[in-house]
Amino acid sequence: MENIKSYIDTHRDRFISELIELLKMPSVSADPAFSQDVLNTADAVKNALERAGCDHVEICETPGYPIVYGEKIIDKTLPTVLVYGHYDVQPPDPIDLWESPPFEPIIKETELHPEGAIFARGACDDKGQMYMHVKALEYMTQTGNLPCNVKFMIEGEEEVGSESLEWFIINSREKLSNDVILISDTGMIAKDVPSITTGLRGLSYVEVEVIGPNRDLHSGLYGGAVANPINVLNKMIATLHDENNHITIPGFYDKVDELSVEERAEMEKAPFSLEDYKKALAINDVYGEKDYTTNERSSIRPTLDVNGIWGGYIGEGAKTIIASKASAKISMRLVPHQDWREITDLFQAYFESLAPAGVKVIVKPHHGGHPYVTPIDSTGYQAASRAYEETFGKTPIPQRSGGSIPIVSLFEKELKSKTILMGFGLNSDAIHSPNEHYGIWNYLKGIETIPYFYKYFTELSR
Ligand code: BES
Ligand code: MN
Ligand code: MN
Repeated sequence: MENIKSYIDTHRDRFISELIELLKMPSVSADPAFSQDVLNTADAVKNALERAGCDHVEICETPGYPIVYGEKIIDKTLPTVLVYGHYDVQPPDPIDLWESPPFEPIIKETELHPEGAIFARGACDDKGQMYMHVKALEYMTQTGNLPCNVKFMIEGEEEVGSESLEWFIINSREKLSNDVILISDTGMIAKDVPSITTGLRGLSYVEVEVIGPNRDLHSGLYGGAVANPINVLNKMIATLHDENNHITIPGFYDKVDELSVEERAEMEKAPFSLEDYKKALAINDVYGEKDYTTNERSSIRPTLDVNGIWGGYIGEGAKTIIASKASAKISMRLVPHQDWREITDLFQAYFESLAPAGVKVIVKPHHGGHPYVTPIDSTGYQAASRAYEETFGKTPIPQRSGGSIPIVSLFEKELKSKTILMGFGLNSDAIHSPNEHYGIWNYLKGIETIPYFYKYFTELSR
């Protein structure tokens, strides 16, 4: 494995240009206008896996977007690593806030990335991180350093709830059998503070609609006499948190796994600067649930947030109306052992109960997923930890993340294996935001670190 650094040096430019080609493809799964691009991206991933040394690659059709499956089985008695990633990306909106077009990748230097970062939608989430695994495989197969079997499962619906993947897993248990699942679709604390993600939050995503009169009304003739759906919706939403920023839905916290004083103290040790945090977001203060730190609020505590809200007149000038309806999209991030379906039901019952006479309320559940936590004494975690020690010269810190990859808990349930989350992104990479980017240093460091995971996982599994 001594030659990994020189292999990366030799092929650096090609590794970068291949990723750039992939980033030019607008694989936006949320918007049907891009469906052909999503399908083309699946083909590109298939070709990349073939070139990187998989023996068998196929596009697996599903009721939705296909899953790209690839494998290289060198010896059935050796362990098998299953790599998961996604080739779909978030919509690029709002486009005007991008400094360069989202699907015309460019390399720019930033304060954090003097080596340059690739700016494009999907650069970090997840094409850049997924492609590190493809290039790590290339290195291992080209140099005779693949110590075990490998399978790839790259999906195209992660950003919209992984519905087809759920169907695929349940129907392909045999094909997907593995000893550990490896994912790079999370972040690390800082370039000089490697970390391994040990937890993900679950999610319940709902849309609500408050319906009032049968048409938009003159706000002078009717205002004050009929329920205004926008006023009512806002009041209902405001009721969902109390003065301490606790969520008021009855039963919401019943199953929340409360961390011990010791566990919380352990978390506090992770390096974190509140000043830098505020500065990076240009806010004068943080805000959240009473008695919890910023790190806790964004990882081990459940949340409820409005993601979008609309209704009434938002065009130029003033138009005096009472809108006939108003809507909002609401997400709840969940922690162990909250059950997303149960939480969705609790939300629905409570939200409906908040509606005053004079309006009708519709709650439409979208998608959800269970939270995930993984222990740090598993073979997979130990192998990952050693891999980082090798390439960063430091022991990585276990860190629970606030984000969600809902399918991970299903992997454990259906495939009975642990997932190791080796993320190389940074919070400042602006995933889901305009000007998403991924540091070239991070990209290459990921490619360098991944083969060591295979090496140590195989050694430790003996
Ligand atoms: N890769 C992210 C999740 C993530 C990012 C986890 C950073 C931890 C750190 C993933 O693509 C994502 O965006 N997930 C969605 C959920 C999905 C159902 C739309 C999320 O977390 O909002
Ligand atoms: Mn992702
Ligand atoms: Mn994402």
